[in-house]
Amino acid sequence: MFWPILRTVLFLLPAEFTHEISKFGMRLMALFMKQPKEIRNNPIGLAAGFDKNCEILDLLPKFGFGHAEIGTVTPKPQGGNPKPRLFRNPRDKTIFNRMGFNNLGAGIISERLKKIKPALPPGFKVGVNLGKNKITPDEQAAGDYARVARAFLDTADYFVINVSSPNTPGLRALQTIEALSLIVKAVQQELLSPANLKNRAIPIYVKLAPELTGDSLIPLLKELTALGVSGFVLTNTQAGHYIYRGESLPGGWSGKNLSTTSFNRLTEAKKALKGDFSVRMISVGGIMTTEEAIKRLKSGANEIQLYTGWIYQGPLFAHKIYHELHS
Ligand SMILES: Cc1cc2nc3c(=O)[nH]c(=O)nc-3n(C[C@H](O)[C@H](O)[C@H](O)COP(=O)(O)O)c2cc1C
Repeated sequence: MFWPILRTVLFLLPAEFTHEISKFGMRLMALFMKQPKEIRNNPIGLAAGFDKNCEILDLLPKFGFGHAEIGTVTPKPQGGNPKPRLFRNPRDKTIFNRMGFNNLGAGIISERLKKIKPALPPGFKVGVNLGKNKITPDEQAAGDYARVARAFLDTADYFVINVSSPNTPGLRALQTIEALSLIVKAVQQELLSPANLKNRAIPIYVKLAPELTGDSLIPLLKELTALGVSGFVLTNTQAGHYIYRGESLPGGWSGKNLSTTSFNRLTEAKKALKGDFSVRMISVGGIMTTEEAIKRLKSGANEIQLYTGWIYQGPLFAHKIYHELHS
């Protein structure tokens, strides 16, 4: 009962402001929560975009998460799109965003992660979601992804090549075999370089848009797997528009409306890669209930991620899923 009331109050405030004060609220709440000594059998993660700048990562194990994806991180800091750029639609349990990769850049965020990582419980995995700066032309995108990866060679547990945000012009055009092969190879090159001091084999995932299906999805999955990609994050937000003061703003929808599409992309991908159990699937998009979370895991997701569902269900949602899974 407590969360729906607090949520109603919080939803009276501008969405991005609420996001900021929620982080403060989480820090207060965390004072009364126990940090797990170790993370075991916890496939529940926090999706990219919530903790873009690695501000609350240290709290996430307490909130029931087994992994978190920070970012999207771009090589240089950038401010993102002008505000307002985040909207809620509580009636449909959806969120609309057109943030545009606002983040502090690879230098600052990687230094933060270096400091935080040793204090995280063993087994808690940190993914770094890699992106390109808005001003970088698409032809030079691979260099941006490689640059961000280089900054996190000591700290990332996995990388995610994000070519599926609808809020960076031209980004989704990189969802082709030609463009993605260049990016994957550039990131793989970083792993093989002397800069990878510990010589760690960091898994590389690719995050795709929910609109990719059939002939635009399956060959991509197969060819990228053949290139050595470890898995896929399915899916990003669904491209659409939001009418704000008579103006139609382009951006991406997340939450309940994405649930069926995201589930379908998972089962489509599993079917296409049938028999290849080494390819890992992280399912994200519209996981709004414990039942949906369990359904994704039973349908072949190795891990799931929450974003909009966490906001609507409240801070204990990941715990709830975890307990349901282990009961
Ligand atoms: C405000 C907001 C910001 C986001 N930022 C990013 C981002 O920077 N990088 C990314 O890969 N996905 C980003 N996402 C997409 C989420 O990671 C996730 O793929 C999507 O929201 C679907 O999951 P959901 O329905 O549980 O929210 C963002 C989503 C929201 C709502």
